[in-house]
Amino acid sequence: MKKKILLATGGGDCPGLNAVIRAIVKAARKHGKYEVYGSIEAFNGVLSQPTQIVKLTPSKVAGIHVKGGTILKTTNKGNPLAYPVRLADGNWTTQDISQQLVHRIQALGFDAVVNIGGDGSQKISQALFEKGLNIIGVPKTIDNDLSATDLTFGFTTAVQIATESLDRLVTTAESHHRVMVMEVMGRDAGWIALHTALAGGSEICLIPEIPYEINKVVKKINKRYDKGKGFVNIVVAEGAKPKEGGVVGEKSKDVGDEHVKLGGIANYLKMQIEEAGCQAQVRTTVLGHVQRGGTPAAFDRILATAMGVKAFDMIVQGDFGKMVTFKNNEISSVSIAEAVSKYNFLSKDHYLVRTARSLGISFGD
Ligand code: F6P
Repeated sequence: MKKKILLATGGGDCPGLNAVIRAIVKAARKHGKYEVYGSIEAFNGVLSQPTQIVKLTPSKVAGIHVKGGTILKTTNKGNPLAYPVRLADGNWTTQDISQQLVHRIQALGFDAVVNIGGDGSQKISQALFEKGLNIIGVPKTIDNDLSATDLTFGFTTAVQIATESLDRLVTTAESHHRVMVMEVMGRDAGWIALHTALAGGSEICLIPEIPYEINKVVKKINKRYDKGKGFVNIVVAEGAKPKEGGVVGEKSKDVGDEHVKLGGIANYLKMQIEEAGCQAQVRTTVLGHVQRGGTPAAFDRILATAMGVKAFDMIVQGDFGKMVTFKNNEISSVSIAEAVSKYNFLSKDHYLVRTARSLGISFGD
């Protein structure tokens, strides 16, 4: 009898998820002794009655590596450690149902699970592993904020989309002598912002790791206008913050989703620039989820495919409780516990920060 593997995609979607799914299914078919299934909407598919679990055959996954999103669907509200449960009075609460989930997966006959997700999902993987589940993590996030891996798939695609957008804003900024502020994603990490600023050539880049001073930002803007270069492009990360003050965002209203929803720094910055007396016209663009949608860049398809194959190899070897990584140009793995123990933020002396400063890009500090 063939062994059974269960796949789940959790948290925000990300270009490359389908390439991981396809790679695992193809590797399993070639190996011959495994069948692959997918739980719909992270682990909700296992928990729902009746279950929503699909068999993933090679024909079902043919060509999906080119598609964005995830054929298994996903959710931010499926955390089994804080699962949304409706009370008799109609109100909602959260409960830790992780042990039940492990028993359910085992009772359904699955020999191994691959959880494809970001930091939140891998914390769940670790908890399920500690409760006896044979689980492997595959990291995904456009934010690139996992320290155990040099790169996550989805990031390169997000940078490409943001760069193409910045290129378009540069020409309209120049035509109108305007200041264009473009807000990009990344949560508390400035990777997308800094890569985009360098690739597109913005004059100012504001990132969470380097809190900015509005007077320094305005000084840089004015200097450009004084020099006769009457336009400025600013890339601001959604998690960027002024030296005196916090991030712009709001707590999620969804039960089971504990994240603060970042967003709005572009408009806040516009207000600050205007209040500081800057005469230039300012316009804002918030890129939002276009950075996560659509077809993955070639590099992300390849990285996701290599990670999927590695996850399958780890299952065959029984190497559970580990997360696949891409470190020093090699596909490898670390314990999930180590992988979730620290984040990957830009250091102030990162070579790309130094490169940007040498080009004259201001961080507003
Ligand atoms: O973590 C990926 C990410 O796209 C972040 O960059 C962003 O802050 C967040 O997810 C948005 O979450 P949601 O899709 O729930 O709005």
